[in-house]
Amino acid sequence: MRAPAAAVLTGLGAWLPPRRVPNSELCARLDTSDQWIRERIGIAERRFAEPDVSTGDMAAAAGARAMDSAGVDTVDAVLLATSSPDHPCPATAPWVADRLGLTGVAAFDVAAGCSGFLYATTAAAGLIASGTAGRVLVVGAETMTSIVDPGDRATAPIFGEGAGAVVLEAGPPHAEGALGPVVWGSDGSLADAIVVPAGGARGRYGREQAPRGDFHVHMRGNEVFRHAVRRMTAAARDAVVSAGWEMPDVDRLIAHQANQRITTAVADALGVPAGNCPSNIREVGNTAAASLPLLLAHAADRGDLKPGHKVLLVAFGSGLAWAATTLVWPAGLAARL
Ligand code: UT7
Repeated sequence: MRAPAAAVLTGLGAWLPPRRVPNSELCARLDTSDQWIRERIGIAERRFAEPDVSTGDMAAAAGARAMDSAGVDTVDAVLLATSSPDHPCPATAPWVADRLGLTGVAAFDVAAGCSGFLYATTAAAGLIASGTAGRVLVVGAETMTSIVDPGDRATAPIFGEGAGAVVLEAGPPHAEGALGPVVWGSDGSLADAIVVPAGGARGRYGREQAPRGDFHVHMRGNEVFRHAVRRMTAAARDAVVSAGWEMPDVDRLIAHQANQRITTAVADALGVPAGNCPSNIREVGNTAAASLPLLLAHAADRGDLKPGHKVLLVAFGSGLAWAATTLVWPAGLAARL
C-alpha cells in the first residue's frame, strides 16, 4: 500500500502593516519603560494595522504572497489561524478565500491561540494525507489591538500585528519541505490563564453591562511564561524523536516569538545554540498565530534558513495549547515579503 501523501511546503509569504510602534510610543501612556520592555520581553518595536485594516485584509495580503511564492493561483482549502477574527461569526477564512479569488473552496478558521498556525498546518496535512485536498493555503494573522487593552501594561507591550502564510502541497513523505510528525496538546484547566472573558457564550451580556476590561485579553503572564518553557521544551524534544532525529541534528529552531526570554530558555534547555535560533521579536513583537509563518518568512528572506537545514518548529499559547513539528528546508523556496 502506498504511504499517504505528505504536506510539502511550496510557498511562503508575509505581510506587515507599515506603521511602526516603538516602545517610546507605549511608554507615553503606560507605566513602563523602553528598557523594561527590551530587557523583559526583547521587543524594540511592533507594527499596528490602521483602524480600517482587519485580520482578514492582512491574511489575504499574506496569502496572495504565499501563492505567488508557490507559483499557484488556486488551492483546495484555506485555513486561517487567528485569535482576532474579523467577526465572532462568521469565520474570517471564507472572506479571505473570496478576496483571493477562491470563492467556493472550503475555508475555516482555527482558534488555537499562538499555536494556531501549527494546529492549522496539522489539519492541512491531515486533509492532504486523506486525499481530501491536494493543496492548502494556511495563514496566521492577527489584529491584536482588537482584543488588547491599550492601557494594560501586562499585555499591551507584548503584542504586534501582521500575517504570514504558507502553501502546502501533496508530495512524497521524504521530500524536502515535507512536514514531519506533529506533537501537540492542550490543557484547558488553565483556560483562564490567557482569556478574553466576554463576547462569547459564557457571560452573555451587552458591552455596556460587562465588567470593565472583559472584552480584552487578561493574562497571568508569569504563570504562562513557566508553562510555555516547560511545554515547548517537551514538545520540541518529542517532535525531534518522532522525526527520527537527534537534538544536535537540528540546524534551526523556529520558536513562537512569545518573549525573547522564553525562546532563550527553551533553546538553552534543548541545547540549541543561540546562533541557530532565528528571531524577529525585536522588530515585530509577539504576533500570536502569525508569529511562526512571519518568522519563517523573515528567516528565509535573511538567508537564515538554507536548503537542507533541519528545522524544528514549536509554539505555545492560549488554551493552553502547544505544538511542535519538523521539516527539512526545501531548495528553491523564495519567501515573498
Ligand atoms: O504568546 C503566548 C502567550 N503569552 C506569553 O507567552 C507571554 C508569557 N509571559 C511573559 O512574556 C512575561 O510574563 C511578561 C512579559 C508578561 C511579564 O514579564 P515577567 O518577567 O513575568 O514580569 P512579572 O509579571 O513577574 O513582573 C515583574 C515585575 C513586577 O514588579 P515587582 O513586583 O517585581 O516590583 C511587575 O509589576 O515587573 C513589573 N512589570 C512591569 N514593569 C514595567 C510588569 N509589567 C511591566 C511593564 N513595565 N510593562
